[in-house]
Amino acid sequence: MPDERVTCTIEEGIARVLLNNPPMNALDMDTRLALERVFQDLDRKRDQVRVVVLAGAGDKAFAAGADIKAFLELEPETAKRRLMRTHAIFNRVEGFVRPVIAAIQGYCLGGGLELALCADIRYADPGAVFGFPEVNLSIFPGNGGTVRALHFLGLGRFKELVYTGRRLEAEEARRYGLVEQVSAPGRVMEEALELAGRIARRGPLGVAAAKQVINRQRNLPLAEGLELESDHWARLTATWDMKEGARAFLEKRKPRYQGR
Ligand code: CAA
Repeated sequence: MPDERVTCTIEEGIARVLLNNPPMNALDMDTRLALERVFQDLDRKRDQVRVVVLAGAGDKAFAAGADIKAFLELEPETAKRRLMRTHAIFNRVEGFVRPVIAAIQGYCLGGGLELALCADIRYADPGAVFGFPEVNLSIFPGNGGTVRALHFLGLGRFKELVYTGRRLEAEEARRYGLVEQVSAPGRVMEEALELAGRIARRGPLGVAAAKQVINRQRNLPLAEGLELESDHWARLTATWDMKEGARAFLEKRKPRYQGR
């Protein structure tokens, strides 16, 4: 456990990362830097990890956004520096070589929601509360939200949510595509871990290549996207796991992947 602000435990290839800044897991700079250290450490341990489940400690919040206490002292230069630093940290979470599943319970607001959008898949407790409340503070989403949310929401819906700052219940967030599944009450972590287990049993090189290719597609024109896809696909044929997958299928048994 490298840091108490963000804890990490790894069990059977699944890393459980918990934001731990009570009472609302506000993402102050120390918490963001702790998150960065945890993902740097996970990157070094990438061979032991197949999937990450990211959640808030306790049941009150995934994260209630940036630390508003720090806002009073902000001025343009420090704000810009901190935002850029946060972008780098959130990019690291989004770009982590293995899939990241966000298990969301309680408040998931502002920067908390922007962080959740860096995950590959989001599961939410039915009582989870979402929103971009920044305009209540006369600001707007600045932790990558104006870019990432547009991959999930239609332009008009996103603007409606940002301009009003209104809150969404989990089911509404699911209907809009911000969340993939609303869990049974109180079972979001179990359901996220179950999904993580299913992904962890698949060919890890195939999953990692899929993530890398899919994440890069959104910035590429068609021809370059197809080139990228075929490059990565073709490279997989040089791996032991790829042949093992085909052999296991033909021999009607479960594959034993080795990550090579
Ligand atoms: N930063 C700092 N402290 C926070 C916080 C935040 N984002 N959210 C909650 N807290 C603190 C409160 O100040 C309070 O502290 P005290 O006990 O010391 O008074 C404690 O957490 C509990 O909060 P509440 O008493 O308000 O609890 P509640 O249950 O009535 O409400 C809440 C919970 C709806 C999350 C409410 O606290 C709230 O609206 N928080 C702010 C959410 C917000 O605006 N987030 C966006 C911030 S901007 C951003 O993230 C994006 C960016 O681009 C920088």
